[in-house]
Amino acid sequence: MSSSLPLIEQFQRAGQAQVFAFFDQLTPAEQARLLAEAGEIDLAEVDRLNRTLVAKNAGAVGVNLDGLAPAPYELLPANGGDAAAWARAKTAGEDALRAGRVAAFTVAGGQGTRLGYDGPKGTFRVTPVKQKSLFQVFAEKILAAGTRYGKPLHWFIMTSHQNHAATETFFTENNFLGLDRARVHFFRQGRMPAVSFEGKILLETKGSLALSPDGHGGSLRALARSGALDLMQREGIDTLSYFQVDNPLVRAIDPAFIGWHLLHRSEMTSKMVPKAYAEEKVGHFCVQAGKLIVVEYSDLPMAIQREVDAAGKLRYLAGSVAIHMLDRDFIRRVAAGGEGVELPFHRADKKIPTIDASGNPVKPEKANGVKFEMFVFDALPFAKNPLVIEARRADDFSPVKNADGLDSPKTCREDQLRQFARWLNANGAPLATDATGLPAINFEVSPLFGYDEDSFASSWSALTAKPSLTDGLYLT
Ligand code: UTP
Repeated sequence: MSSSLPLIEQFQRAGQAQVFAFFDQLTPAEQARLLAEAGEIDLAEVDRLNRTLVAKNAGAVGVNLDGLAPAPYELLPANGGDAAAWARAKTAGEDALRAGRVAAFTVAGGQGTRLGYDGPKGTFRVTPVKQKSLFQVFAEKILAAGTRYGKPLHWFIMTSHQNHAATETFFTENNFLGLDRARVHFFRQGRMPAVSFEGKILLETKGSLALSPDGHGGSLRALARSGALDLMQREGIDTLSYFQVDNPLVRAIDPAFIGWHLLHRSEMTSKMVPKAYAEEKVGHFCVQAGKLIVVEYSDLPMAIQREVDAAGKLRYLAGSVAIHMLDRDFIRRVAAGGEGVELPFHRADKKIPTIDASGNPVKPEKANGVKFEMFVFDALPFAKNPLVIEARRADDFSPVKNADGLDSPKTCREDQLRQFARWLNANGAPLATDATGLPAINFEVSPLFGYDEDSFASSWSALTAKPSLTDGLYLT
């Protein structure tokens, strides 16, 4: 008990005594748990965030738009880019894969509230015929790329405190989805306390804090803290291919992307897709004061989002799709912080289940407090030689965010079907589609058969008897 006093005192001195308001009513085990959670909190950090983000006079958190301009990016050859440079990049990426320099990295610590699915989002089933989970799709892409380049890949998966155990159990029960379990690495991301609008740390129950994951930007700290970066170093891996758990279309291992990153000696390279329309709710790649930054749609005035150039093309066309290539030593530098290299926190006002002054549960109807999150794209301005390359949305991005409507299981399933149909059509197997490219039949291509145009083309041409293209077809 005596060792706990300083911690309680620290909270009292920081004006956060409410955290221990019910301490005397708790069992020793509950007390120990609360103390452990409180011990995770960086009170100085919470104080700083309260002053800069929460306090009424915190000022317009708003983004400074002075000197803002659209970021340049490498165009795809089909859109006028340098085909020879893309070919060189692809070769360089393939060499890096053969040398085992690249690992896959999935951020899977989100809460997935919009989808409303009970369980780690990676276990959500998305494919049209086999109903494979998101994790299964990524596992097969990673397995296939390892086979293609003769070097099995490591896969790092960031979980949260809430879904860590369930994620590990899913992999164990499913035989690691066909991967070598020694190459699959799970680690938890950090947590941040939620605070009231008065800056008081909220309790979820009398004996626990309202804690939530610290955002995908927390992945950089978590990679360092968990020992993942050391493991990469021991294995000779210097490049991480970062993608989100909700996007099964992603080219999880994309040689040209890897090659652009390495040839440019970039510490962080990102993919952009041209925005589908001016108001699309994505981050925008911009430059400001010589730095590459991402400005969220909510921070960019609509008039700017709608600006067009002389040819009528959107000026701020480059949308961020949360696909990045990261240099290992860069991650270490950002995670270490200091010397002005520190990811900022962002404020999100949320409904946070808590308790009232008598300890009774409160389920708020409207936002009652603030969560703090870091975003991974905020690392871009700290990177040396950062680079943005163009990607085809149809080949890289169709996330499952919502239960229905935009970015839902239905839109994602249809985008997978369109991609499979395009691959068939490009390989002399015409398949009838509607005007949007959606085929009339429901079928599926396993990533083990083809996970991109190249791998599909080689598997398809190797088939001596071509299957008939009918409902339920599964190419594997
Ligand atoms: P989203 O921004 O879509 O958030 O995450 P979310 O928590 O998954 O979903 P909602 O907003 O509650 O509906 C984008 C990606 O970043 C990961 C998610 O798992 C997803 O892959 N992420 C997000 C984390 O790993 N940690 C976080 O703290 C937040």
